[in-house]
Amino acid sequence: MERYTPGDSPNVTNFMARRTLATHGSFFRPFLFPGAHVLDCGCGPGTITADIAKCIAPDGQVCGVDGNADQIDLARQVLSGAPNAECRVASIYELPFENNHFDAVLAHALFEHLADPDRAAAELLRVLKPGGVIGLRSPDWTGRLSWPASGRAERALDFYAELQAANGGDLTIGRKLPSILRRAGFHAVRATASYECYAPVQVIAEYLAAQIEVTWQVPSGAWTTTELAEELRVWCRQPDAFFAQAWGEVVGVKAA
Ligand SMILES: C[S@@+](CC[C@H](N)C(=O)[O-])C[C@H]1O[C@@H](n2cnc3c(N)ncnc32)[C@H](O)[C@@H]1O
Repeated sequence: MERYTPGDSPNVTNFMARRTLATHGSFFRPFLFPGAHVLDCGCGPGTITADIAKCIAPDGQVCGVDGNADQIDLARQVLSGAPNAECRVASIYELPFENNHFDAVLAHALFEHLADPDRAAAELLRVLKPGGVIGLRSPDWTGRLSWPASGRAERALDFYAELQAANGGDLTIGRKLPSILRRAGFHAVRATASYECYAPVQVIAEYLAAQIEVTWQVPSGAWTTTELAEELRVWCRQPDAFFAQAWGEVVGVKAA
């Protein structure tokens, strides 16, 4: 079973739309060259896709793909001024492209939601040209840093990870990305990691609280979803509230 945990509420979409290639995809920037043919898989509202379009202009072409038609509608608006960008609704498991099609493929913040990451990596390998480069970036929540200490806020953060696992995803996939690429047959696999520090912390707290309070999952322990969501909102308003998320990043090459 695979269900995309965040959904597509305005809260979620606005959260994603803050992202740029510079803030979230810099590990992949060296592989984007003018004239390249690029796939941005799981493009969401398309703000990273729009930056890729600029890097490969004027002759390169980027295609953003997302399984959610509403996200693609938003991405089309964001990409309306980019003549070298298009987007399509498609699943990562069945991409509507021939073999050996792209010079570079990026999947940013997607693999943590997938029930079958190996199958997804095999499909990305298929559409990549020999010699082409893949880049994946996903969170690893065991590396998160949060302050001030709060048992209930920590429980809320753990519950969100449990929720994603119940939906078929994995919030500790960041460290596993190199293994996934190697198993798929990629070469020259190279892993890095980085932290995203949320400022203000309310941005991430509200993103998580809104998802926790609408879920049908029942948390183990003493607190309800409503209490956990509310605790995140209270916690993040403290003057020194701090939350930083660890991301695993990996690049790999398809054998020539
Ligand atoms: C967390 S968002 C990331 C969006 C964008 N890449 C970013 O980082 O801002 C993940 C996106 O992947 C899409 N998605 C989830 N499962 C998918 C699947 N199996 N195939 C294609 N897209 C999928 C979701 O609809 C969502 O827009």
